[in-house]
Amino acid sequence: MRDEQKKYYIATFGCQMNAHDSEKMAGILNSNDYKEVSSPKDADVVILNTCSIREKAEHKFFSELGRIKMLKKKKPGLKIAVAGCIAQQHGEKLFKRASFVDCVIGPQNIYQIFDTIQHTNRFTLTSGGNEAIAETEMPVFRKTDVSALVNIMYGCNNFCSYCIVPHTRGREKSRASKSIINEILGLTQKGYKEVTLLGQNVNSYMSDLDFPELLAEINKIDGISRIRFVTSHPKDLSEKLIKIMKEAEKVCEHLHLPLQSGSTKILGLMNRKYSYEEYALKVELLRKNIPQIAITTDIIAGFPQETDYDHALTVKALKEISFDGIFAFKFSPRKGTAAALMEGRIDMAVGSERLQQILDLQNEITEIKNKELEGTLQELLIEGIDEKDSRLYTGRTRTNKIAAVPKADGIQKGLLLNVLIKKANRHSLDAVLA
Ligand code: SAH
Ligand code: SF4
Ligand code: F3S
Repeated sequence: MRDEQKKYYIATFGCQMNAHDSEKMAGILNSNDYKEVSSPKDADVVILNTCSIREKAEHKFFSELGRIKMLKKKKPGLKIAVAGCIAQQHGEKLFKRASFVDCVIGPQNIYQIFDTIQHTNRFTLTSGGNEAIAETEMPVFRKTDVSALVNIMYGCNNFCSYCIVPHTRGREKSRASKSIINEILGLTQKGYKEVTLLGQNVNSYMSDLDFPELLAEINKIDGISRIRFVTSHPKDLSEKLIKIMKEAEKVCEHLHLPLQSGSTKILGLMNRKYSYEEYALKVELLRKNIPQIAITTDIIAGFPQETDYDHALTVKALKEISFDGIFAFKFSPRKGTAAALMEGRIDMAVGSERLQQILDLQNEITEIKNKELEGTLQELLIEGIDEKDSRLYTGRTRTNKIAAVPKADGIQKGLLLNVLIKKANRHSLDAVLA
């Protein structure tokens, strides 16, 4: 590292979209002769790429900001940039709360990160709009080497009543299919084997191709062996998509399909635009066509006006559908969203109790589901050496379950391996070479 080279540090909060945005900001800075460092202490510029999905995420950011403030006291020249969803939401108001911040840049402007941090005065760039970013090719600095995140669209038009994302990420805009395909072709040359296509609602992807057609095109790319995507909105999950998931051999048998609640009344208040029955029918159709498919979901506990009965419907849904895994959260009112103004807020303690019940039940279900895999053959894509035990390699099954195999000659990152599942643990599988 040359001494005069500027150094930056990025802290990333939130979802895969943010993780990928950080990879792009890193790519842009690297191509402008900046160098990434792994500790903020060594940096000239610190970028906090933030998330505001729930109050907890916001708290995390503000406590990290406190630590960075201490650093700046010792090193007054340190530049602090706030990016991501909190940046978009609060804009200039962030300077009031934290006067030591130098710049604020929203998610729809990340391609301008280099110019933004050149400003010597306080600077805010949250002008938004996804038209420009969707047409901008950005260098990406990925830290993974087997599996890559690829944006296919930006923004969200759904306005689920609880959700801040449409307010921070702007209106939906799809990238041109050609530019996505070119990016993936480039990835194969670097040795990547798996792509995860990113969008808030990939099922509404629309360019010259729709989403199933895009999958079919990516399926033709030599060198890529697996295709994943997140997130699917149940209302837009079509039979055409199920057909392509079944036919395109590289599309993995895993679907993250957020249910949010088992109560159709609550789904209505959430503005989700499907009933529980419609959701269950889609799951049935998926399982009929792709029997080995793993389905995961998101659940919100304690939404306004959720009665014990509504909660019981969610519990019943979890039992009926038997998900492979869930992410469950307690409702968190976000300023500016419709749900934040709704009557019938649920007591925090009740919300916590319901959440715990949901998590306990799902733990049992996940364990049973994983046990069913014992004795089965699975295809693993090896991602690297196990972080906790260097005698093992870890990878994922096509159904997105983490499995570990003992090291052996010939096993290496990026290899597709047939393994036999010996033992199922709650969060991972122990396997041996088949
Ligand atoms: N676009 C994706 C991801 C949205 S955020 C999708 O539609 O699924 C991921 C999850 O966070 C959501 O599915 C929801 O379960 C949860 N979430 C979003 N806003 C929330 C809020 N205000 N309170 C609690 N959970 C929330
Ligand atoms: Fe939020 Fe709904 Fe859009 Fe997902 S689909 S990002 S939950 S508004
Ligand atoms: Fe992602 Fe958080 Fe924004 S979940 S889209 S970084 S609010």
